Amino acid sequence: MKDETSVKLADSILTKVWEIADSYYPKGDWAHGRSHIERVLRTALEIGNREGADLEIIEISAILHDIFASKEKHFGVEGFRHEIEASKEARNILKTLGLADKTVDAVCHCIESHRKRTGKIQPQTIEAKCLFDADKLDCVGAVGIVRSAFMALDHGQEFYKQEDIDDYERRNIRPDGTIIDYAQHSSNLEYELSLKEVAKRMYTETGRKLAKERSSFMDEFYSRLGKELKGIL
Ligand SMILES: [Fe+2]
Ligand SMILES: [Fe+2]
Repeated sequence: MKDETSVKLADSILTKVWEIADSYYPKGDWAHGRSHIERVLRTALEIGNREGADLEIIEISAILHDIFASKEKHFGVEGFRHEIEASKEARNILKTLGLADKTVDAVCHCIESHRKRTGKIQPQTIEAKCLFDADKLDCVGAVGIVRSAFMALDHGQEFYKQEDIDDYERRNIRPDGTIIDYAQHSSNLEYELSLKEVAKRMYTETGRKLAKERSSFMDEFYSRLGKELKGIL
């Protein structure tokens, strides 16, 4: 059980972490900015609560997990991995704030292992699994659809493209799973190539349950959208 001092210390650190993190996140970016972080945080805490995880580790990790996501998407630098760079930066930030090494290590592991398609580091702890699942859940369901519309707009993409998935994958997806030209991507292609199977990639029971619910809604949406666009519905 925490004493009052440690709770106050944690609260003040969280305020500082938020202040620092805010300077990295683009303003008004519903897909990757502060609103994504707040949604992931709420979902990760809900999963963490049900899974018996350390909520303080989850909270700090969620706040910092995407501080370099916009850098990666805008520059499209091959080899730049936002989860690895964010983990290194988070280590510096948290050490400067005086957090214990054990906490810093736990947070950094959550951040470095949160990436979906191309993650080379798999989540090993329950906190990292909760963050991973919550981050992926933000890509599916009603939230996922709205988010992907913002992303399509941001990257100058069409929202929906009729493509042969195998051809498209050969043409625009690198062997490590990263996208070559974001402008060629679209919301439904992302769904077909990655999000459709999101429930299978969940690490926690709670995440899997939520992912199935959200995915079935998304499935219905794209199926209907495809028919409406063909003019048959
Ligand atoms: Fe990310
Ligand atoms: Fe994220």
